[in-house]
Amino acid sequence: METVITIDGPAGSGKSTISSLLAKKIGYLYLDTGAMYRAVALAAKRKKIHLNDGKALGELCNSLDLHFITDQDPPRLFLNEEDISAAIRSPEMDMASSKVSAVSEVRKAMTGLQRKIAKGMTLVAEGRDMGTVVFPDAKHKFYLTASLEIRTERRYKERLGRGETVHMAVVESELKERDHQDETRPIAPLRPAEDAKIIDTTEMTPEQVIGTILCQLDLG
Ligand code: DC
Repeated sequence: METVITIDGPAGSGKSTISSLLAKKIGYLYLDTGAMYRAVALAAKRKKIHLNDGKALGELCNSLDLHFITDQDPPRLFLNEEDISAAIRSPEMDMASSKVSAVSEVRKAMTGLQRKIAKGMTLVAEGRDMGTVVFPDAKHKFYLTASLEIRTERRYKERLGRGETVHMAVVESELKERDHQDETRPIAPLRPAEDAKIIDTTEMTPEQVIGTILCQLDLG
């Protein structure tokens, strides 16, 4: 039986920072499911597959050898023998991953893979549908939110840190578009599970968010 803590929420809500810090702190595995959708988008781009071609994307997913190397911090994601951790972090992959994630064949394959990775593990699973679809029985579910303004600022700084030249207004409109796409897709849309604790991180430091989460956990 696995023990899963789910952390869902929109882009820039602090999910990745919090999930990775929390996992480290309590000795759980950190599962970044957004990275998996990004990997599918990257592989589709390389194979010139249309981002709404369900059949081809489904076949692609079933042929991918996708695995995390978790003894490094942050964990690395490999596609076959290639470390794609950096290649999946681009504005193009932001939007492309959101597009492929709306395709049912892709969701089915990724959900299966995520559950397989979780088997017998203790993990912090981060994404959009962890609490609602992939691990509905998880005992501890969290949904992080933050104002559009602060989420934009966080993403803006992240992108500057990667050496990109970008305008704040562009970051904001891309963020809005992606959230809209993720929230309105028919399958596994972004939304809090009914039993998730919602944490607004707008005015919180990562340490405060971790503290709030730790207060809710009884890890026995
Ligand atoms: O968390 P992220 O920004 O790396 O996620 C990239 C995209 O992947 C996101 O826009 C929607 C999709 N995604 C999803 O549909 N379900 C998940 N569990 C995680 C991510």
